[in-house]
Amino acid sequence: MKTQFFTATSLDGFIATEDDSLDWLFPLGDVNDSSYPEFIAQIGAIAMGSSTYQWMWRNAETVAAEVGSPWPYSQPTWVFSSRTLPAIPGADLRFVQGDVRDVHAAMRAAADGKNIWIVGGGDLAGQFHDAGLLDELIVQVGSVTLGRGKPLFPRRLTNPPLLLQSARQIGSGMAELRYLVPGR
Ligand SMILES: NC(=O)c1ccc[n+]([C@@H]2O[C@H](COP(=O)([O-])OP(=O)(O)OC[C@H]3O[C@@H](n4cnc5c(N)ncnc54)[C@H](OP(=O)(O)O)[C@@H]3O)[C@@H](O)[C@H]2O)c1
Repeated sequence: MKTQFFTATSLDGFIATEDDSLDWLFPLGDVNDSSYPEFIAQIGAIAMGSSTYQWMWRNAETVAAEVGSPWPYSQPTWVFSSRTLPAIPGADLRFVQGDVRDVHAAMRAAADGKNIWIVGGGDLAGQFHDAGLLDELIVQVGSVTLGRGKPLFPRRLTNPPLLLQSARQIGSGMAELRYLVPGR
């Protein structure tokens, strides 16, 4: 059972613009050409922060047109927020706040041996890392820069560095990098 931060990022380290747009991302490649299909098949529980959840909520119609449902995941999903947020029909949601460690224990139990996906944002993935719970980062680096936006991983992580496991080209628009967190 691994806890994985799987995300796309701009070359300069942003996972969304400052106003939470992902319009720059979709022209860069097809998610099905990344390791996503094998990755999601091994996921038993999902966590995300409220900005990420609200992007899903705002784009529910587009998601429904693409995958046939306003919510694309069958796995139970923990949404971190200090606020009361609207539910998305068909989503198996738990709204939580505070320390990630108790939530991780509940996710682990629900995942039943499968992996845990931290969807984002970067600080939420950082909170799991701070608690010693993050095992892997899998990042599709897009061939664009945004200049500013929502950060990939707002932590100073230098010593020991992450351990690069693989680097794979996905067309001219992306490179997929897989890192292990040392000591995990
Ligand atoms: N490029 C990609 O593949 C990719 C992947 C994932 C996400 N994204 C995008 O990246 C952006 C991420 O936004 P973001 O950086 O703002 O991160 P986020 O994690 O989605 O949202 C941050 C918010 O979540 C809530 N939160 C986080 N930790 C919490 C905790 N422990 N307890 C309670 N609440 C907590 C807080 O808001 P409140 O308490 O005010 O609710 C916090 O301001 C979104 O636009 C998303 O769509 C892109």
